[in-house]
Amino acid sequence: MDVVVLDDAEAVAAYVAALVLDAVVREPELVLGVATGATPLPVYRALARGSGDFSRVRVVALDEYVGLPAGHRGSYTEYVSQEIAYPLGIHPGNVVMPWGSGAELERRITELDGVDLQLLGIGRNGHLAFNEPGSPLDSRARVVELTESTRAANAAYVDPVPTHAVTQGLGTILDARELVLLATGTVKARAVSAALTGAVTPDCPASVVQRHPRVTVVLDAAAASMMAPWQTSSGWSARAW
Ligand code: GLP
Repeated sequence: MDVVVLDDAEAVAAYVAALVLDAVVREPELVLGVATGATPLPVYRALARGSGDFSRVRVVALDEYVGLPAGHRGSYTEYVSQEIAYPLGIHPGNVVMPWGSGAELERRITELDGVDLQLLGIGRNGHLAFNEPGSPLDSRARVVELTESTRAANAAYVDPVPTHAVTQGLGTILDARELVLLATGTVKARAVSAALTGAVTPDCPASVVQRHPRVTVVLDAAAASMMAPWQTSSGWSARAW
């Protein structure tokens, strides 16, 4: 696991945007897995300011609320459309959103021959996509019930927050060829520390990234503040401590 700790959220966004751009230059038809939420927003905005050619890129989202009407401003479909597809010039037909039971999402990902590069955020309770604590480590795409803490954390973006969502499973996420997990702010420090330095356990779903052979974690100093430098010195390359 490659853990990169940078000064602030702006530096994290620039670093991750450069990773994505590099992958698209190498593979113009990249299958890019996108996270939603506040954390990766500056990444997409940095990419939109650049001159990368995303016209052949395919995009797959991690999760979506159940029950929001089409076009709802708080839906991840709108987020992906307004913040990613439109600004980057990605054809709407090349965007895959989760819907239904999740089985359709698995089928579409298989049709695309899998996700090449998956961006991930992390919830304050260690959730990954909408895999809440207790999710099986080999879970597949499915409908899940959201915890009260996740609903409270997301209430700023959609109110009331739906009770259920359809999400890629932890097993689905692990199938991506490469993972990039980003986190910023002290509010994520505890979850980041548990996910990266604790046991791999359903209690902290994001800990499953430890099982992936190709992971880059990009943190600002605040999100890394509960990890000691020695925790990044054996086997991990902590480039910016
Ligand atoms: C949300 C999303 C996740 C996201 C995470 C962190 O609930 N379902 O995909 O990565 O929680 O969100 P944020 O970046 O807004 O803190």
